[in-house]
Amino acid sequence: MKLVVAVGGASGSVYARRLLDTLVRLRARDPDALQVGLCFSSAGNEVWQHEIGAVPDYPFTRYGLRDFRAPFASGSAGWDAMVVIPCSTGGLARIAHGVSDDLIGRAADVMLKERRKLVLVVREAPLSLIHIENMLTVTRAGAVVLPAAPSFYSKPQTVDALLDTVLGRVLDQLGLANDLAPRWGDSKVPPV
Ligand SMILES: Cc1cc2nc3c(=O)[nH]c(=O)nc-3n(C[C@H](O)[C@H](O)[C@H](O)COP(=O)(O)O)c2cc1C
Repeated sequence: MKLVVAVGGASGSVYARRLLDTLVRLRARDPDALQVGLCFSSAGNEVWQHEIGAVPDYPFTRYGLRDFRAPFASGSAGWDAMVVIPCSTGGLARIAHGVSDDLIGRAADVMLKERRKLVLVVREAPLSLIHIENMLTVTRAGAVVLPAAPSFYSKPQTVDALLDTVLGRVLDQLGLANDLAPRWGDSKVPPV
């Protein structure tokens, strides 16, 4: 699978870090099965540094925000899926309206026009009518809005376990192996 990971400027860089760490592990298991292209928005970079610290060197090709020569800037390159994690409401708005003036907007636009999987891990609270209408627009266009809203029924005991309740859903949407979070009905889910 050829996957674009875009890190946007909403709060929740830890979601991106946890996803990227997981993708590193998945790729180590089967290097031919997964190719990742990474792109940070300017605010994504800034929020990561504010919330976590320095951005590590991931073993994935990282593309500049203005690099329209990146392979996934064209549908002909045949990339399979894209996730924007976390996705700001500004990023959501640009995607909803086809604004392709940076690589993240362009890659998302390509995913929608090619009818490929686009997952937007939106984080904001509360939501305005504009945000909700933009979510409706991207959903109608084929994207999956997957709010960065953790669940608690698996009784997560650590922050990572809490993040995994969202990341498990992200991996499921992308069709990637997911052993991060217990599933409802699993014996690993503590009884009510
Ligand atoms: C520390 C910090 C936290 C932010 N958190 C959010 C957030 O949770 N949701 C959001 O929509 N925007 C948030 N923003 C604002 C976005 O970063 C800003 O709107 C930016 O233009 C988004 O651009 P991007 O989508 O290209 O990253 C935050 C900004 C900062 C500096």
